[in-house]
Amino acid sequence: MKIVNKIADVRLEVGNAKKAGKLVGFVPTMGFLHPGHISLVKIAGENSEFVVMSIFVNKLQFNDLNDFNGYPKDLERDIAIAENGGVDLLFLPDDKEMYRSNLTTVDVDLITENLCGAHRPGHFKGVFTVVSKLFNIVQPDIAVFGQKDIQQAVSIEKMVYDLNFPVKIIVAPTVRESDGLAMSSRNKHLSEKQRKEALSLSRSFAACEKLIDSGERDAEKISESIRAVILEGSPDSIDYISIVKYEDLSYAEKIDGKTVVAVAAFWGTTRLIDNMIIDKKDDGYICIY
Ligand code: PAJ
Repeated sequence: MKIVNKIADVRLEVGNAKKAGKLVGFVPTMGFLHPGHISLVKIAGENSEFVVMSIFVNKLQFNDLNDFNGYPKDLERDIAIAENGGVDLLFLPDDKEMYRSNLTTVDVDLITENLCGAHRPGHFKGVFTVVSKLFNIVQPDIAVFGQKDIQQAVSIEKMVYDLNFPVKIIVAPTVRESDGLAMSSRNKHLSEKQRKEALSLSRSFAACEKLIDSGERDAEKISESIRAVILEGSPDSIDYISIVKYEDLSYAEKIDGKTVVAVAAFWGTTRLIDNMIIDKKDDGYICIY
């Protein structure tokens, strides 16, 4: 695995890979890697011959400075995990390399208005701006994003479509701990008690799945049952429990076609998000979480 800090070096290495006829896969991250990130690398490797990962904690997407300052870091460990995980080129830029005048931003309307967009002002603009920059720097053929951050993944699909980025987006399933907690760099901020309580998020999806299997399609009834299960885990607050259409993340009144159930809740100062996709299969629906 090669490690580079400069944009010019990324262009050189990717250029060489492309000259050798290789398809280039890309996994952007903010580091503190866990098996969720590495599952994306694996999928990138199955769909390309040269896998680039970036690690850059993007200040632009943090609406809370404390959250930015407290974002966990362990570069040495990340480098070892990336190398073992099959990354060919690791791009580690610093702020000076990434930020220029900052006068130009990229935003995606509507689709970012609810869910996390409603609770983290400016967050998605920061994400789309940095992802656009990274796409222009790396120029990948494919890029992999996690279902874990469903609003991010769906909006980036839209951004790529609207702005004609020549890259194929793959949305990869959420990797969970054996007890069901979705892996996240933020989990390390949870106390042991909070961590146990936070299992109510994935438990709420199991309850939701049962309801769907029993034929329930009403979004309000489904979200009530989810709320009841999450409350069993005594969160300090619930940001949202939303049932939205996959296509544009607009609110759904009933399950009718591909749908997302997305939740966000706080345990202490740690904000956790999780989601489940409900998709049509044969005569019924399957739940993916
Ligand atoms: P980060 O939170 O580091 O996540 C990097 C990628 O890993 C994202 O696509 C995210 O959805 C995915 N991911 C996180 N946890 C996962 C899990 N448990 N299972 C599967 N995939 C998971 O998302 C970002 O960074 C940033 O916003 C970024 C896109 C890099 C732009 O700065």
